Amino acid sequence: MIDIQSMNRQEIADIIDENKNEPSEELLRAAVKVRNEHYGNKVFVRGLIEFTNYCKNGCYYCGIRAENGNVNRYRLTEEEILSCADEGHRLGFNTYVLQGGEDTFFTDKKICDIVYKIKSKYPACAITLSIGEKSRESYEAFKDAGADRYLLRHETADNAHYRKLHPEYMSLENRKNCLYTLRELGFQVGAGFMVGSPYQTSENLADDLLFLKDLQPHMVGIGPFIPHSDTPFAKEEGGTLPLTLTMLALTRLMLPKVLLPSTTALGTIDPKGREKGFDAGANVVMPNLSPVGVRADYTLYDNKICTGDEAAQCIMCLKERIERSGYEMDMGRGDSLVD
Ligand code: 5AD
Ligand code: FES
Repeated sequence: MIDIQSMNRQEIADIIDENKNEPSEELLRAAVKVRNEHYGNKVFVRGLIEFTNYCKNGCYYCGIRAENGNVNRYRLTEEEILSCADEGHRLGFNTYVLQGGEDTFFTDKKICDIVYKIKSKYPACAITLSIGEKSRESYEAFKDAGADRYLLRHETADNAHYRKLHPEYMSLENRKNCLYTLRELGFQVGAGFMVGSPYQTSENLADDLLFLKDLQPHMVGIGPFIPHSDTPFAKEEGGTLPLTLTMLALTRLMLPKVLLPSTTALGTIDPKGREKGFDAGANVVMPNLSPVGVRADYTLYDNKICTGDEAAQCIMCLKERIERSGYEMDMGRGDSLVD
């Protein structure tokens, strides 16, 4: 029995080390069992709308960082965003994730208008925002406009590690405060981190799990770090498949009721990556609803998959993959069972 919930930092780091080259059958089986107890064999689907690739920040790992002059920058108009939601609705989606860089063009009012309009048209749907660090007042306004969920990966729970990944004007303290504030305001909250980011140690990953245990988020986004050629980390090594699967499984054991995406980044480093994610305890996928013309410009990392496919194609492909691996696709709201 792997009783991760009662382990200390060193014990968790040791388990990570033991499983980093290949997650043990015992670990994977335990994670799948816990996932099945709470969610059965369902995989929940969210429609991702990447509405702006402008960003004021300069995170060293990210392809759309402000300093990257090679990005073809775009912003979707409100009409374009609403028609992505319409397309999603036609395809049967009941949850939309509006994701973007930290783009000052999209004021709180603009975001609230968009959320309000989607929610008025599709009252049964859940709306998730993923637009970075904002003030409590902004988060409150988003909630009042109808947003249900918020994704903000903490990236790393260790301050010294955080400093190596981010410019000096960003702070881990503020990021963590944002997450606790969002939780307090009643959002379903998603935290998360990259696996194999530069300078990351097993102790850092253990701290990520301990931070998650404290925060008790509803969702956790975990994917491998993949170098982007126009960033300071272009020449760094990427995260591996086995370590990512190990971290998914350990997260499932730490937070049994969490919603855990099998990420696009995982599908990018291995053709069967997302399926392997389900077999490590993941139970969410987030296919792209962004207009095909802009997808290739939303590249946080190199070689991203699914940048050329229509949303309809993507959903067919995913359904097939999910069913072939013995799971069932669920297009409902897929609310988290975490309180
Ligand atoms: N490789 C993998 N994931 C990345 N992200 C940003 N850049 C990369 C990269 N090069 C992740 C971050 C961010 C999320 C939206 O994408 O964790 O929070
Ligand atoms: Fe996008 Fe398969 S999920 S093409």
